[in-house]
This record gives sequence, C-alpha cells and structure tokens, in this order.
Amino acid sequence: MQIFFGADYYPEHWPEERWETDAELMEEMGLNVVRMAEFSWTKMEPRLGEFHFEWLDKAIELLGKHGVKTVLGTPTATPPAWIIEKNPEIFPVDSHSIRRGFGGRHHDCQSNETYRMHIKRFVTAMAEHFKDNANVIGWQIDNEFGNSHEDFCMCESCQAHFQSWLKEKYQTIENLNREWGTCFWSQDYDKFEQIPAPKLTAAGENPSAMLDWKRFCSDLIVDFQQVQIDIIREKCSNHFITHNFMGFADKVNYFDLGRNLDFISHDQYPGGFFREDAQEKEERLASTLDLMRGTKNQSFWIMEQQAGVTGWQIMGRAPKPGQLAMWAFQSIAHGADTVVFFRWRTCTVGTEQYWHGILPHSGKPSRRYYELKDFIAKMAPIMKDIQGAMPKNEVAIVYSYDQKYAFKIQPHHRELQYVDQVNRYYEAFYHQNIGVDFVPDTADFSQYQLVVAPLQYIMTPELEEKYKAYVKNGGRLILTMRTGVKNKNNVCMSEDDLPGKLSDLLGIKIADYDCLTDVNVSICWGEKCFEGRKWSDMIEPSTAETLATYGSEYYKGMSAITVNQFGAGKAYYVGTEPDEALMQHLSEFIVQELSLNRLGYAEKGVEFAERSTENADYLFVMNHTDQKQKLSVEGNWKPVLDQKSELLPFDFNIFKK
Ligand code: GAL
Repeated sequence: MQIFFGADYYPEHWPEERWETDAELMEEMGLNVVRMAEFSWTKMEPRLGEFHFEWLDKAIELLGKHGVKTVLGTPTATPPAWIIEKNPEIFPVDSHSIRRGFGGRHHDCQSNETYRMHIKRFVTAMAEHFKDNANVIGWQIDNEFGNSHEDFCMCESCQAHFQSWLKEKYQTIENLNREWGTCFWSQDYDKFEQIPAPKLTAAGENPSAMLDWKRFCSDLIVDFQQVQIDIIREKCSNHFITHNFMGFADKVNYFDLGRNLDFISHDQYPGGFFREDAQEKEERLASTLDLMRGTKNQSFWIMEQQAGVTGWQIMGRAPKPGQLAMWAFQSIAHGADTVVFFRWRTCTVGTEQYWHGILPHSGKPSRRYYELKDFIAKMAPIMKDIQGAMPKNEVAIVYSYDQKYAFKIQPHHRELQYVDQVNRYYEAFYHQNIGVDFVPDTADFSQYQLVVAPLQYIMTPELEEKYKAYVKNGGRLILTMRTGVKNKNNVCMSEDDLPGKLSDLLGIKIADYDCLTDVNVSICWGEKCFEGRKWSDMIEPSTAETLATYGSEYYKGMSAITVNQFGAGKAYYVGTEPDEALMQHLSEFIVQELSLNRLGYAEKGVEFAERSTENADYLFVMNHTDQKQKLSVEGNWKPVLDQKSELLPFDFNIFKK
C-alpha cells in the first residue's frame, strides 16, 4: 500500500458539476486518496431499503480517473431521521436521564438492538456494493468513537447490558457486593437487575461501580465496532479497515479498539477544538502522536490533519504561513505513513461552516492549497522509503486507561489529571530531544533502558511482579506518588503500608501523605531548591537512597525522591509533582546516569524525531517557532530535503544515515 496524501471529501455538499474541478485540483496538488461518506447515510439510503449508491459510484469513478483512491466511511455516527422516528429509543440518555434529540450527530445508543440491526443491514449492503470497486481501498468504521458520548448512554438497554457485563465478571451478586464494598451506605444488591447505570445520584457514588462502568462503556464500543468489522472483513477481503482515533480521549480504550483493525488512524488538530486559547503546545502534539503510534505499536494514518482555521462557534487563530505544512510534517515524523487533510473545501452549511478546509468557501485555491501542494511535492519522493518505519526509543511511558479512569473518578487534588501528569514526564524527555514510546502495562519492557510509570494507582499482583522482574534484570523504572494504592476493583488495599507490595522494589515506606490543596512545598536536592506541587508522600527509606528531601511543612527533612538498587536495576520513586525545574533536574540526572541517546541539540522550539527502517535511519527536524533557528546535526547524517544549516520559521528537514 503506497498512498501518501489525501483529503476528506464531501461531494454530497456540492453540485455534481463541481466534482470534476475538485478532482483536477486534487490531482494537481498531489493528492491520491479521499475519505468519503462517513456521515451520508440518508443520501445512500433515503428510505428503508432504498439504496442509492450511484452518486458515490460516480464520485469514486471520477476521482479514480484522476488517480485518487477512496476510503469509505460507514455513516453509523448519524442515524437518519426516518430510523429514529420509528424507534426514538435509539436516542442516547445522559446521566441526568435526559434523552438527547436530533439535529447534531452521535445521537445513537450503541447497545440498542434495533439500531444494530439497521447497521448490519446497511453496512452489509454498502460492503456488498463496493467490494469489487477497484478504486476503493479500505474502510473507516463509524467516526471518532466516543466523540460526544462522554456520559452517554444510560438508557435501559445500556443498563441491562451493564448488568450482564457485571454478571459475567463477578458471577454472583455476593462477589460483586464484596468487591464493590456495597456495605458502605447500604448499597448491597440482591440481584444484578437492581444495579443502575451511574446516573446522577442524590449524593456520592461508588468508585468501584464507576470504574466498572467506564470499562463497560469501552467494551461496548469495541463490540459495536466489531459488528461492522465482521461484515466488511467477510465481504471485502481486499480492503483494509481502520478507525479514526482522538489522541488522549478516553471513552474507549484505544489499545483494545485497535486490536482488530489493520492499522489505526488519528485526527490531529494542532489548532485545538473551538476553545479560545486553542492552539496546543508542540510537546502535547508530539505526545499525542506518540500515543497514537503506541496503541498498536505500528505506523499509522492521519485521517484528519488540520488544513485551516478550526472552529464551530468560536474560531482558533489562522495558521501562520508554513505552519500547516510543519504540523503535517510532525505527524509524519512521529509515525504517519499517509496524511489526509480535513477537509477538502470549507462548507457553507451545517455546524462546521468555520472549520476551514484546504480550499476556502469559494472553492478557489489560495494560500493553504499552495502551501500544502508545495509540501506534498517536497515530501512525496521520500514517503515510500519511510513507510512502516518506527523509532528505536530507549524510553517508554506506561499509559493506562484504568489509571486514567480511576483518577477521573477521584482526582484527589482538584487539578490532578492523569494525562497531565503523564505529559509532564514526557515533556522532560522531549526537551532533551529523547524519543519516547507510549506502551500499555502489558507490553514487554525489556527493550527499554528506562520505563516511566506515573500514578500506578490501581495495582495488581501481576503488574507488581512485572515491575520487579524488569528492574531485577537491569531495567530502570520511575514510579510516582499514588502507586499501589488500590486493587483492580478500585478498593484501597490495606495489607501493607504504601506503596504496598512494591515496598521492597522501591526500598521505601510511605509514612503519611499530604494533598497540597493551597500550597506548594519546597524540595531540596543537594544545594538546589525546587518546588513540589499537589501532593507530598512522606517517604521513609529502608534500603533506598534519598535524592531529594522536603524543605518545608512539618515533614521538612523527610525524603521526597528516592532511588533503590534492586537486582541489576534501579527503581526511582517521586513522591510529589515536580515543578518544571525539578523535573528537568531529575530527568537530566537519569539521562546522564543511563547515558541515554539524544537525537540532537538545538534551541527550544526545534523538535527532533527519528524513524528507522531495516536499511536506514531518518532524522526529522522541525521548527515550531516563527523565528529562524540554527541547526547542527552531529554524526554522519545526510540532509534529504534541503542542504541549509538553518531552519526558517516553521521549516523542517529530514536527514538520513
Ligand atoms: C473531527 C471529526 C470531523 C469533524 C472535525 C471538525 O472530530 O471527525 O468529522 O467534525 O472534527 O470538527
């Protein structure tokens, strides 16, 4: 498969006479793929069983003549009015028991059997119709699972499915009562049928029930996707199947969702999503892409790459000259094999009139078109060489949906967020130009020099053993505050002092802790002073060596950061949220100790990333700033795109060896 650049195209929004011009402009620009139809159910089936694929056939054929292949989206995020009219129970119910209405998208309950029946019927017909079309290469199932579904759906059908899911997990109601600790506030159940979906209560909620609900919702989406995968696999064995993920979104566990896809896709909007302070930090853009690569440990597609100003009701800044291209370059640098820009032309109707495409409303090529055209001309020749290339990172960060869910349920400190904590560690390595992989806690750690596992709050005996074995065999591990607090059902463990069974690995005991609601605490490392935020673990070392101590509060002098030799490796424990300076100090200390390999040296704002094939290594360098930046790349790297030794504003280059 050798597709490189494309656009998300909605021919149904424009008169047919325009399609030819679009196809010509696409060809001229160097695009060779479109994604179409992911929201156009009514256009394909305006009435039950009355299929109209002929408009799509025409568009596919016309594009095909211009060398543009098609990825088809299944339109199952937009159930038509004629389905809903007959079966209004398909509308999702939120935690306030409100049934949401028609007029947007994602107005579907994913457990609803009638809706699933319609999906099976429709997707079978669609797959059957397009299976032999030589211009169709693959499928995107639905669109951004979990988008807009934050607290949906809590209808009776979902509740019944939740009860069955619980029954399968716990077998008997006595087991569930025990594991959830329902003795608290008289919450004991006599039977599974009494268990509610977690709608708004009068006061309080059971953390174990909440965690199982989140896991259930994720499993439901994975199952919902599988229904369509099964149909398309059977009918269209020559086509790939993918889905467009959303970075750090968490309604569905992406490690699970990716399992039965050929590859994952991701939607990358550096301009942010209609917030006033929209633009994402370069570090977060990079970590998002690394997480996406990590979900399947494989290169991926960008199915929607920002192509203009973002905005629904509120708009973001206009991307500066060069910035759109540089952002697309960044996606490739972190593992994208194909980049599809969202969207081809800015639409004049509907919710997304201000989510700008490559072309403006007028459809006339302007700055964005020419900038991306130049970008494609520059990049296309190298794209085939880097297909499938992956980085050879020495550092991994453990990413866990369970930990994320558990902190969403009980954040401890009002500003403590799992993704934010994970990214603080990521950024420390990013700023030293050290590549990082995101891995699930089930991954094989042995290939990494260093594993960073922030907030390992939910702990299982298997994971404890895994961390111990990794360090014993020479690995370096960073664990942090709130490690080993709860069992897998979100119940506090009580057999040992914190950090529980990891005490011997870390060589410490946590004597007490302090949630820093309204203060920061001073942290002393040798002569240097820093700050800790949000949380203090008062650490008593047994075999561990103290690296930093608290310099204020009543626990002044107690350990804040420790390191313990365990077998052939070392385990670090960080008992607070380090401020930026402390994080830098700590990470530089570890990088030096382990002699970790830096990809390069440059001013802040210049990013390095690496991808390797069996034959060559590729170093990607990009300038996130609107200033010129000097560049010196050490070693026998040969420039590929450009011979200059500087980077212009938003400029980029590739080196090869
Ligand atoms: C994505 C979505 C697209 C479009 C875009 C801009 O989340 O997949 O369909 O809505 O955002 O809002």
